[in-house]
Order: sequence, then structure tokens, then C-alpha cells
Amino acid sequence: MAPVRQPECLLLPVNDGFSSASPAKRRAIVTGGASGIGKATAIAMAELGTEVVVTDIDQAGGAIVAEQIGGSFAMLDVGDPVAWDRVIAATGPFDIAFLNAGIATRHGMPPLDRHPLVDLPIDAYRRIMSINLDGVVYGARAVLPGMIQRGSGDIIATASVAGLIAYGIDPIYGLTKHGVIGFVRSLAAAFAANPDGPDICISAICPGFTDTNIIGEAVRDQINAIGIDLMSPGHVAGVVMRTLEERPHGGQWVIWPGVEPHTYEWHPVLPPPA
Ligand SMILES: NC(=O)c1ccc[n+]([C@@H]2O[C@H](COP(=O)([O-])OP(=O)(O)OC[C@H]3O[C@@H](n4cnc5c(N)ncnc54)[C@H](O)[C@@H]3O)[C@@H](O)[C@H]2O)c1
Repeated sequence: MAPVRQPECLLLPVNDGFSSASPAKRRAIVTGGASGIGKATAIAMAELGTEVVVTDIDQAGGAIVAEQIGGSFAMLDVGDPVAWDRVIAATGPFDIAFLNAGIATRHGMPPLDRHPLVDLPIDAYRRIMSINLDGVVYGARAVLPGMIQRGSGDIIATASVAGLIAYGIDPIYGLTKHGVIGFVRSLAAAFAANPDGPDICISAICPGFTDTNIIGEAVRDQINAIGIDLMSPGHVAGVVMRTLEERPHGGQWVIWPGVEPHTYEWHPVLPPPA
């Protein structure tokens, strides 16, 4: 299947050399790999023969996943750029980076009493920005030198449907996921601008509600009330594997229950009048 080009890429010279490299016999780093979507993806990659370094701040959970898949574990707080340097120096380089770790704004906090923004502790704001946004930027920054040197690589970031639609349940979460998508599209455009450059594909997955630990009880009740099915982490992991095959450079996979996964289509911005 031909790589899907987003509008920015179409404005620029395009690297047509994206190969359909198999994830087998490649080396991958997975962030947030101790649980949920990261864990399911680490398992799916290992089943295809990829050597996986599972990373997380949950040492016990991450080590169990690493042992289960015959990979290794590295402690990594994705919001710490020094930790990224240390982990890449010790375990890199990588062919695949699945930049997946993420939290909801009120992670580990009691349910809301008031408006989600009025009730927002500044510490919680800084924490989610550090994990959901810095974690993706620092991760891409850390793995890219090795990929550029080897001439190829795949970076997949976990955004969310909340990065494409308004997400009133958690506006700051929506902000971070819109940011991940903007970063992925822009970074992809930067690579597409250099047709003789490395064969590096950058994309995002945008799952809807998935049955993992990030879904707190209050949100779970809201989802049940609307009547939306939770997807399994394995279903989302399957789309990550498909992304590695199809390599939609700059694209975002919409993953929604009962709907064939598809890359999001943006409306072009009209040029200013002459
Ligand atoms: N579950 C959903 O409904 C859903 C929907 C769309 C997007 N997502 C996104 O999927 C990604 C994975 O979340 P999940 O649903 O599997 O939840 P999860 O809670 O099961 O997994 C998240 C993992 O990230 C780890 N983590 C938290 N802070 C970290 C840090 N500072 N550094 C490294 N790791 C850290 C956690 O320990 C955990 O293992 C997140 O980015 C989330 O925003 C989830």
C-alpha cells in the first residue's frame, strides 16, 4: 500500500523510498511497556521476532513483561531527558520506537468536585505535560541519531482520538494528544522535505477507549453510560503492527470499536487570497 501523505508533506518534496520493512529481527524500544497498550504491543512485536526493550517507571511490571517476551527491561521516566540519554546509551540503537507512555490528568487523584480546569492542581498539569508531551519529544530526540546513522527507522507515538476531537472529560489530556499529533505531522514533514535523507517513518495511533489502567472508575462509568465498547489492548497493538507494515508517514490511525482502522483525513487549509 502506498504511504499516506498528509497535506504538509504534499507541499514538500517527498521521500518515495519508504520500504515495507518487516518488524522481525529488528530492535524496538517501548515506553509504558509494563501495562495496557504498551505491554500488548511489546508482546506482539516479540511474537514476530523483534528484540524488545521494555521501559517504564513500573519496574516490577516492566520486568515481568520483559521476562515473558524474552526481552529486557530498562527503568525510564519518559519526562526525564537525562534518563533517555542513559537508556539509549545502554540499550540502543533502535529500529523501532513506540513512544506510548501516557497518563490522564487526574492520574491517581480523587474524582473531580468542580470544573476540570478550575480543579486542576498545577503539579498535575506539569506532570501530564512532562509524560504525554515531553516524553514523546525527548523519545524522538533520543532515538533519531541512531536511526539517522543507520539510514532507517520507525517512530510511532500513541496519541488518542482525544487528539482529533474535543475531549471535555479531560481538556488537558486533549491538549497533550493534539500536541502529539501536531508534533508527529510536523516532524514527518521535516523528513519528507529531504528526499535523499534517511528512510524514517513517523506516525501516530489514535485509539478510542481501551480497557487499560488509565481508565479510572469514574470515566469507565461515563463510557458505560454512553454505551461505547472498550477495545482490548491487543486490538490496538494489532494496529501498531499494521503501522509498521504500511508505514503511513505523518499519518494518524483512528482506532475505534467496530470500525476498520483508517488514517485520518485532514481538510486542507486554503491559501490566502492573491
Ligand atoms: N486506554 C485508553 O482508553 C487510551 C485511549 C487512547 C490513548 N491512550 C494512550 O495509550 C497510552 C498507553 O496507556 P494505556 O491505556 O495502556 O494505560 P496504562 O496505564 O495501562 O499504561 C500506561 C503505562 O505508562 C507508564 N507510565 C506512566 N508514567 C510514566 C513515565 N513518567 N515514564 C514511563 N512510563 C510511565 C505506566 O506505569 C503504565 O505502565 C497512553 O499514552 C494513553 O494516553 C489510551
